[in-house]
Amino acid sequence: MIQNWLNLCENGWCFLNTDNDHYDWINEAKKQIKFKFSQNVIKDQDFRSGSTWFVGTNFLDNNSQGKIGTRQLSKKIINNISSYFGTKIQYWDKGQVSICWPGYPKKDNLESEKSFNFRIKRFASHIDGIIPLGSKKRRFAKEYHAFILGLPIMNNFENNASLVVWEGSHKIFRNFFRNIYEGVSSNKISDIDITELYNECRNKVFTKCNVKKIVPNFKQPYLLDRHLLHGIDQWKDQNFGSYAIKHKHSVNNLSNGRIVVYFRPVFSDPYDWIYQ
Ligand SMILES: [Fe+2]
Repeated sequence: MIQNWLNLCENGWCFLNTDNDHYDWINEAKKQIKFKFSQNVIKDQDFRSGSTWFVGTNFLDNNSQGKIGTRQLSKKIINNISSYFGTKIQYWDKGQVSICWPGYPKKDNLESEKSFNFRIKRFASHIDGIIPLGSKKRRFAKEYHAFILGLPIMNNFENNASLVVWEGSHKIFRNFFRNIYEGVSSNKISDIDITELYNECRNKVFTKCNVKKIVPNFKQPYLLDRHLLHGIDQWKDQNFGSYAIKHKHSVNNLSNGRIVVYFRPVFSDPYDWIYQ
């Protein structure tokens, strides 16, 4: 079946076609994640939201082609992505392993009331790569991803902290970035504080775009436009496993977790991030 990119263009995301290799890769990823959790190589600072979320940035030990151990990332996925995004995607980053547990999100001691409310009401929506820095959380474009590839590993059901996206928001944000960075040389883009304008643009998206929950069937992978506003829904399923937060991640049972691996290959030139 030929990959259909129409939904990516129009709404900012699409499901990807798969092959059998994909499911072997998922099993290998699951094995590795379980092994690393059993080895106590996880860091406390990787847990957020009262230990109901393991952020897991760069946690997966894959090679630059996405291979884990002897398992290749599905050729079908790689070939489809390469034919659509071209030769500027040279290598795959180390996958983020995002895990949420029943109860997500709990309020962290370090999290402000305002930020926690935003997490509940607006799913902590954000554009990846626009990083909040310093105690005042001023925002700058610091990472220039080509796209976001999500590979559901386990327990990706509708009420288990699903990914939510604002459909069509990629067009609004793409215009926004083109306007604010117009005439700026590529090595200066990451120095510009865009906090207020970014917040304004996000509010515009809230009034103009519909929120959509991405619920994969059969672990179908999905691809998000790099400029799509997205976040994580609450864990709404009250009956999923028995889970008690004891403020120790060691009690988090991996088999109750909703696990997704994300890849975000980067462009070396910020102009590609804005204009391609
Ligand atoms: Fe994100």
